[in-house]
Amino acid sequence: MATLDSGRSHRLSRWMLTLAFGVFVLCCVAGALCGSSSVHAMQDEHVTMPRSRYETGATGKNAYVGDGKCITCHRGMSSGLSTQMGRAALDPRDPDAPNYSTMSYHDGSYTITIAKGDHDGLEMRASDGSASLAAPIRWIFGQGYDGQTFILEKDGKLYESRASYYLALSNLDLTIGHSSSPPKSLMAALGRPLPEAEVKKCFSCHTSEDVFDGRIDVKQAHPGVTCENCHGAGSDHVSLMASGGGSNTLKDADIFAGILAPVDMNDFCGRCHRTTHDVLSSGIRDIRNVRFQPYRLENSRCYDPSDPRITCVACHDPHRKLETASATYDERCLSCHVRLGEKPSRDKTAAACPRATKDCTSCHMPKLDLPGAHFAFTDHYIRIVKPNEPYPN
Ligand code: HEC
Ligand code: HEC
Ligand code: HEC
Ligand code: HEC
Ligand code: HEC
Ligand code: HEC
Ligand code: HEC
Repeated sequence: MATLDSGRSHRLSRWMLTLAFGVFVLCCVAGALCGSSSVHAMQDEHVTMPRSRYETGATGKNAYVGDGKCITCHRGMSSGLSTQMGRAALDPRDPDAPNYSTMSYHDGSYTITIAKGDHDGLEMRASDGSASLAAPIRWIFGQGYDGQTFILEKDGKLYESRASYYLALSNLDLTIGHSSSPPKSLMAALGRPLPEAEVKKCFSCHTSEDVFDGRIDVKQAHPGVTCENCHGAGSDHVSLMASGGGSNTLKDADIFAGILAPVDMNDFCGRCHRTTHDVLSSGIRDIRNVRFQPYRLENSRCYDPSDPRITCVACHDPHRKLETASATYDERCLSCHVRLGEKPSRDKTAAACPRATKDCTSCHMPKLDLPGAHFAFTDHYIRIVKPNEPYPN
């Protein structure tokens, strides 16, 4: 990091400028969006558009090279393709999709099912006993470690399915954010129409390689968060590296390297995971914000905007699967906190735990049920949890 040459710092500052501009745009958009109550609970509080996909040099049709190309040189990164994030959306023909054929959701007088449709794909069907209506599933959103929602197409328009799949139920249930009062038509039982602006937002967070000259083209979308979603379109980088231009010298590699100040890193991940700004401007100040990690983390006394030991990437490698054993996080806590009896040092000044010496996250980052999501999210507000406390906010 200390050896940033001028080319790279130039790129970096350009990125920062874009970031600053993004925050500005975000402020404007926030005001406009938050009044709308019909919007899906997952993104009505979201106000940013992912930015880095808009800002590398090449943005035309051939700007993207695809994950497959990246890992021909960066072999060690191939695990990035199979993270939940890398698979944040699936093609309906994906062999890893659960077997939905045994599932159903009963919604007032309607029954919702999923079955094989034309062209090997899947379709969702609503029936009321006498009539039925089906729509093809174009995309499955969510990798399925907690749930999946289906994007349907009908008469050229996209819909968000009213029924979602939940791993904990191994079945379909109401999509979070949808009204629980019974739908009034077969079409309403299938889903709600997604306005163009919302389509853009959903796809910005769950799919990649579909932004051309600053516009999203959903038809070109690649499912999941790919390398180029975070690093920007890679064709310039690949030509440079293939021609020997970079050959391990780390000159201006013509790609966003992900090197950011700690506070900006949380915002970088927050462009999809929601920043503090997103949450505050949306006014969502209850358990629904438990899944917005940047906001939760920044409430903690541990958080210091200038300390790299408390950024998202201190605990999560975006190129690897999520670690689920509490013990794997201990080292991160103990990079700042001393153990009981240990003397504070220059780098380690934070207090010791009087109660335990390991599995820190199991007590201080509790898993909380989000109603309707059938999933307990990890609260990133690191704290002393008091029994029966109301949700701290
Ligand atoms: C032809 C081989 C090749 C391909 C293909 C390739 N890279 Fe690289 N990349 C390199 C080399 C060589 C470097 C220099 C540093 C190194 O050895 O890691 C590099 C560096 C990087 C860096 C760090 C840049 C920096 O300034 O520190 C990132 C990030 C990166 N590549 C991402 C990607 C992504 C994303 C793709 C796919 C779009 C990709 N690369 C495709 C060869 C390649
Ligand atoms: C382009 C949007 C986007 C960006 C940027 C993004 N994420 Fe994600 N991330 C997602 C989505 C969507 C999921 C949920 C996947 C699912 O449930 O199917 C996810 C899931 C995760 C998960 C849980 C599962 C897993 O894949 O390990 C972690 C951890 C995570 N992200 C960390 C990060 C970090 C760290 C950063 C910043 C370096 C980041 N994310 C940036 C969209 C994004
Ligand atoms: C601002 C970015 C963003 C937008 C917009 C967005 N999502 Fe997500 N979505 C995420 C992230 C990040 C996660 C992972 C949440 C987590 O695990 O903390 C996620 C998780 C999910 C999941 C997994 C199940 C769950 O509840 O965790 C589904 C399904 C999903 N999103 C569907 C959608 C649909 C459908 C839309 C549009 C109607 C949408 N999302 C819009 C970022 C976004
Ligand atoms: C969710 C966002 C995200 C995705 C997706 C992602 N990266 Fe990264 N990448 C980052 C960030 C952030 C950094 C900087 C990490 C740090 O500072 O700890 C980084 C660093 C890198 C580096 C340089 C540092 C190193 O460890 O060598 C390379 C090379 C790289 N990524 C390649 C890839 C490739 C190839 C893919 C696709 C398989 C990919 N990345 C997917 C966010 C992402
Ligand atoms: C101090 C360590 C730490 C930091 C910093 C951290 N996380 Fe986590 N994160 C965890 C732990 C622990 C889990 C739970 C892992 C498990 O048990 O599955 C987790 C889980 C997640 C999940 C999976 C969904 C869930 O709720 O369990 C996502 C998404 C996530 N983190 C995103 C982020 C983002 C984005 C940031 C940056 C704002 C971040 N994390 C910062 C420790 C951390
Ligand atoms: C960047 C350094 C840093 C990291 C990493 C860090 N902390 Fe802290 N933490 C602090 C500081 C500073 C305080 C403020 C009080 C102090 O000096 O102990 C604090 C306070 C706390 C408190 C007391 C909170 C309260 O409400 O009084 C707990 C509990 C805690 N940390 C647990 C953890 C756990 C568990 C982890 C790992 C998941 C962790 N911390 C990671 C620096 C850090
Ligand atoms: C079994 C649950 C549990 C585990 C595991 C645990 N703690 Fe604690 N911790 C507590 C409780 C309860 C308190 C409040 C103690 C009190 O007030 O007497 C606490 C207090 C703290 C404090 C505040 C101390 C102060 O003087 O303000 C810090 C910091 C802390 N823990 C860090 C950690 C770290 C780091 C780890 C992992 C090495 C850890 N804890 C593991 C339950 C736990």
